Formats: sequence, C-alpha cells, structure tokens
Amino acid sequence: MHSVKFLHQDIQDEQTVQSMVNELLSQMGLDEKIGQMSQVCGAGGWVPDHLADAIRAGQVGSVLNEVDLNTVNELQRLAVEESRLGIPLLLGRDVIHGFKTILPIPLGQAASWDANVVSEGARISAVEAATAGVNWTFAPMIDISRDPRWGRIAESLGEDPFLCSQLGNAMIRGFQGADLAENGSIAACAKHFAGYGAAEGGRDYNTANIPENELRNVYLRPFKAAVDANCATLMSAFCDLNGVPASGNAFLMDQVLRKEWNFDGFVVSDWESIVEMSVHGFTDDDEQAALEAVTAGIDMEMASSTYRDHLENLVAAGKVDLEKIDQMVRRILTLKFKLGLFRNPYTNPEDYPALLNESHREIAKEAAVKSCVLLQNNNRVLPLNRAQLDSIAVIGPLADDGYEQLGTWVFDGNAEDSIHCLDAIKQLAGDDLIINHCKGLDSARSPSHEGFAEAVETAMRSDVTVLVLGEESFMSGEAHSRANIDLPGQQQQLIEALAETGKPIVLVIMAGRPLTLDRVVDKVDAILYAWHPGTMGGPAIADLLFGVQSPSGKLPVTFPKAVGQIPIYYATKNTGRPPSEESCIHMDDVPPRAAQTSLGMASFHLDAGYKPLFPFGHGLNYGDFHYVKITTSRSHIALGESIDIAVDLINSGVHAAEEVVQLYVRDLVGNVTRPVKELKGFRRIKLNPGQRTRVGFSLHTDDLAFYNRHMQLVTEPGQFHVWIGGSSDAPLWAEFEVHP
Ligand code: BGC
Repeated sequence: MHSVKFLHQDIQDEQTVQSMVNELLSQMGLDEKIGQMSQVCGAGGWVPDHLADAIRAGQVGSVLNEVDLNTVNELQRLAVEESRLGIPLLLGRDVIHGFKTILPIPLGQAASWDANVVSEGARISAVEAATAGVNWTFAPMIDISRDPRWGRIAESLGEDPFLCSQLGNAMIRGFQGADLAENGSIAACAKHFAGYGAAEGGRDYNTANIPENELRNVYLRPFKAAVDANCATLMSAFCDLNGVPASGNAFLMDQVLRKEWNFDGFVVSDWESIVEMSVHGFTDDDEQAALEAVTAGIDMEMASSTYRDHLENLVAAGKVDLEKIDQMVRRILTLKFKLGLFRNPYTNPEDYPALLNESHREIAKEAAVKSCVLLQNNNRVLPLNRAQLDSIAVIGPLADDGYEQLGTWVFDGNAEDSIHCLDAIKQLAGDDLIINHCKGLDSARSPSHEGFAEAVETAMRSDVTVLVLGEESFMSGEAHSRANIDLPGQQQQLIEALAETGKPIVLVIMAGRPLTLDRVVDKVDAILYAWHPGTMGGPAIADLLFGVQSPSGKLPVTFPKAVGQIPIYYATKNTGRPPSEESCIHMDDVPPRAAQTSLGMASFHLDAGYKPLFPFGHGLNYGDFHYVKITTSRSHIALGESIDIAVDLINSGVHAAEEVVQLYVRDLVGNVTRPVKELKGFRRIKLNPGQRTRVGFSLHTDDLAFYNRHMQLVTEPGQFHVWIGGSSDAPLWAEFEVHP
C-alpha cells in the first residue's frame, strides 16, 4: 500500500536526495501534492477521525501543535503505513525559548550578546522538543523591532541587524545541529518574512510601510543571513508590507528570496495568513487568496485550507502551473528526506536525555545570568555583601511567581518547574541572613495599595530591599501590544512608598520589552533588568545579586525615556540638523512669550530631548572597565582589504567580570544617508581585577557594504569613523579611509 522502498534508506548526498524526491514526485497525484503543501492543526492528545482520514488520503503534509508522543507516533503511522505513498509528516511547534526547560525570552537571550549561549539554548530546546516527536520549530523570530510597544518585541532579537543576524544564526545552528538527520536536530523557521516588526504604532498585525532601501539595509539583513546559514524554512509575515500582504508578496517571496538569494528551502504561511489576505482587502475570496499566495511563492499553507480547497481548480483552469506546484512539493519532500523521516518517522523517548535534566537547567541558568542587564548601580549597592548584611526584604508580586517569570508564548513549560527569586535568594542566603518577604501588590496590575504598609514595614526592618516588579507574561507577545509602557498598575506608587524609607532599593524588573523607567531611576539604587528569565530565573538573579557572578548583559534595544520618543534607536540618521547638548533645550527652561526662533533648531523633543534613557549596548557589571588606546592597523585601505582595530581593556575594579566589547562604524558620506553608528562586531572578554588586555577586531571592506539608492550592495570609498567601547555611546574613536 505504501512505497516502502523509501524507508530504511540513509541519505547520502544532495543528488541522492533529489533523485529520491523526483522519483516520489513522479508517483504523486495532484491531490497528494497539494496535501504536502497543507499543514493542519493537531487536536492535542488524540487523533480525530477527520484528521486520520485526511492523512490516510494523503491530504496532509504537516501537523502543528501536537506534542503528545503517542499521538505524534500514531499520526506518523497513519501517514507512513496507511497513506498510498507513505510520506511521513512534518510536526511543527513554536519552541520559541525552550520546550520544558524554559530559557529567557529571545529578547533576553539577545541581551547576552553571546552566540554560544543562544545556540546551546536552541540545542537543548531542539532535543527536548524532538523527544515529543517535534521535527520542525517556528523559530528564530528575526524581525527587527524598534518599537517596544509591539508585544512581539519579546520574541525578537532586538533592534540591530548585525546582532540579530549573529544570534539568529546561532539559534539556527542550535536547532538544526550539524546534520538535520541527527537525533535531536529539528528544522528551523526564520520568521516573519518580512517587515512585521515595523507594525505602525507598535500595534500588532498593523501595516508596515518600509521604503525598499531601508528594508534591504535593515529588515532583510537577518533573513539573508539565515538563508546563508541554511535555515531550512521561512515563514511569511501576517502584515501587509507597502500595501501588499507578505503572504501574497511576490517581491519578497520570489524576487528577493528565490531570485536574489537562491533560497532552496520552503516557505510556510503564518497561521491563516493566506485567507486573511481577503480581510486585508487584497483578494476577493479564498480562491484568489490561494492564487496570490501560490503565485508569490508560499509553499505550504498553515492552518487554513485554501490550497486544499482551490489549487486543483486553479491548476485545471490554467492559472497555476503544475511545474510550480512540483517545485514547491520538491522543497517540502527534500526537507523530509534531510530530516531522516523516511528512514525513521517514529520517536522513541529513550533515544533522548531526560527533559529538564541538570545540564539543561544549567544551560538555562547561564543564559539567564548572561541575559540580565545591570542598568544602574548607584553607590555600588550591588553586589550585596553577605558579610555586611543581617537582613534583606524581598518584596513584589513577581518575587515568588514561577509562572510569570517564564514569559510569553510558552506552551510546554510548567510553572512548577521554575525556581523563583524568593526561593533562590533564601537558598543562597542560607542561615546567615534573615529574609523578610511580602508581596506589596497582589499582582503586577493590582490597583490596591492595601499591601503598601506591610511592604514599608518589611523594608524598614531590613538592611536592603530587593523589589521584584515588572510585567506579567501575558503583557507581551503576539497581539499583546501596549500603548503605555510604564510599569503597570500601582508599581510606581509602591516604589515611591518604599523610597520614602530611605533604605537602599535594588529593583529587579521582569518584563517582555523595554519599559519607560524615567520616573523610576532616581527612586532606586540599582536596577537589574531580567526580562522574563525562564525556568532558572531565580537562581540566576540570586547569583547576580550576591556577586557569585557578575552581570554582563547589554541592551539589545534602546530604552526610551518616554513613549513619544518611539521609534528611537541608536543607528539613527544624522539629519540636516543633528541635536547636541547645546542645541537641546527643555521647555521648562524657556521663558513665557519666547520668540519662535529662540529654540535649538535641531532634531529633538522639547520635553524629552533626544537621548534615550539607556542606550543600545548599555550594561554595567561588577568590574570597572576602561577603554584606552584605540588604534587602527592602517589609515587607508583599498576595496577588498581588511583593517584591524584594537583597544586596551582594563579592569581596575575589585571584581572579576565579563565585558561585551562593541565595535561601531560610521560611513560619513553615502549615496544614501548612512546611520550615525552601526554595530560591526562584539566580543565577550573576561578580566580579573587589575587585568589588562588588548582586544582587536578585523573589518573587511565588504563589512561596510550597504544598499545604495539603486538597490545595489556596495562599499563606497570614503572616510569612516570607528568606535570601540562598552555601549553604542562609546566615546573612544579613530578613523580610516577606504579608497577604490
Ligand atoms: C504566529 C507565528 C507562529 C504560529 C504558529 C502565529 O500566530 O504569528 O509566529 O509560529 O502562530 O503557532
């Protein structure tokens, strides 16, 4: 009944795969081909008759959201044993930041600026997901986002194309391993192609309008990197990009992805994004939507059924070329072969290490440690010195909440597996320290001040307060955008009440996005930004608070002072009237009936200036790092050559610490205007107290390339500035010239 000859065969090489794919394709009817192009949702722990029948009939190429192992194996059995051609299924799942062992949210992982940490995190996620029969995940999410109102910024790797490309590729390596057929490797899916992170107003699913030059220079870069890193699949975005929904956007799917980048994996739509093209007002009905999607180049349809319902008719009517369908099916089958599914479609959990094992927990903890960003540390209140303290107050609705610390879009992790801050602090403090605990607020959004008196009293009888505040996990993620991004509810008021005590306050914030903290910074001594840190958030935070480890995270996204500054990002353009300290006047300093022209005539806000609260790349540690002596190996280089740039890095503090050393470049004049700074490299360097080292980077002129106004990727000869430092605000710079 099925084509057993494909089973028990090992994949040797690309050519063998292609000939097997072609042989299989030659046996397939059109309905079976369309079946491969269709992804349906699982029922969650059982196989409904309609799904079993559809699989038997060869109408399903992939199932998503089924992670019950027996059910998954039964689905594969139906496909392999009971369908005419025995083609195994792709089992898709969102494993966005962990499966059972939950890592920090991707934006938090991005704050680690550590490709190894990110790749190891993806590896354990893949291994755990594979234990449940998942062979394909919808990650990494590499939408550049410069709008913290957008809930999905939590799933992203931040605002910068270079950082996002490096870390996105690290995730792909982790998921896919060296070989897709290896146990524990699963196919990755770079999403959402493209422009989704530029949703207007930060409102999810909203229109994105991005000029082509900006699209190529910023938003498409991480996707190009993912394609070059052999990411198996891409997902189309929900949004309409410049008037054309991504799922029907031939410019993206065909021109850029296939013709320019030669992507040979396949593209899946987002959930019902093909039928939604009619809601966008782009197509009349499902049939037209299917036609637009297939014509643009969407190989597989997620969740909706326009392909199954209409593609046969569209082919019969001569509107869709059969060769096009064959090409799409070829891509899908190729991945199935590469994953080794024809050899063995079934999953045996005994082939895998235990879920949530110690080593996975360690990796998650390291990721959380490296993700936390020390935004401020007045009077070096951190690290807490156990020898000098008798008691600590641990206050706040998120201090003992194993659920909220997991963050957005967690379907398989459990709150009971989390270790929260309170337990971890108690554990680390041992018997030496008294830990006084109360919540202060029942939840992050609680309107009631009822717990304030107890909070103040708790702080008063303690030497220092650790206040754990932030957003609940539901406040970021898909469809969870916010117009105001202050600490929610009455948290600001709680901070103010506690500040009155005069006791030192260490604020730990768990959140899915940058929050506006302008009114917070002068009320507390230290701020440790922990994002949503995942299963091992508590132990990671406790280690950092007590100085067992030094913080080392750096912001992957700019923190605005006020929502009105958004979009605000470091790689901004200079404008014709760049702001400066001198030109930037605050409206409170302007006298009544001021002359219109008395103001700075520069690009700033009268009430918020032009600087962010914390710049991209910012993050303190317990060392005391200094950068001196920047040098370039040459003052001139020719196109095609490289230049070395180096600094001395010194830790003159008393703690060992890791610093993320960052390299930025400015191309002074371009055929299109160039950003005032662009990240071009970063390295993590650990130094002991008193240690000094030389840190170098090599830049090739290709690293300086950008899309010009004719959409050509070019490096233009001319003058460049280069900075090395601990944030995008780094002052130490040098210059060099590129000549033809
Ligand atoms: C999201 C995708 C996700 C898909 C499947 C959609 O709502 O936009 O990112 O992969 O659901 O769960």
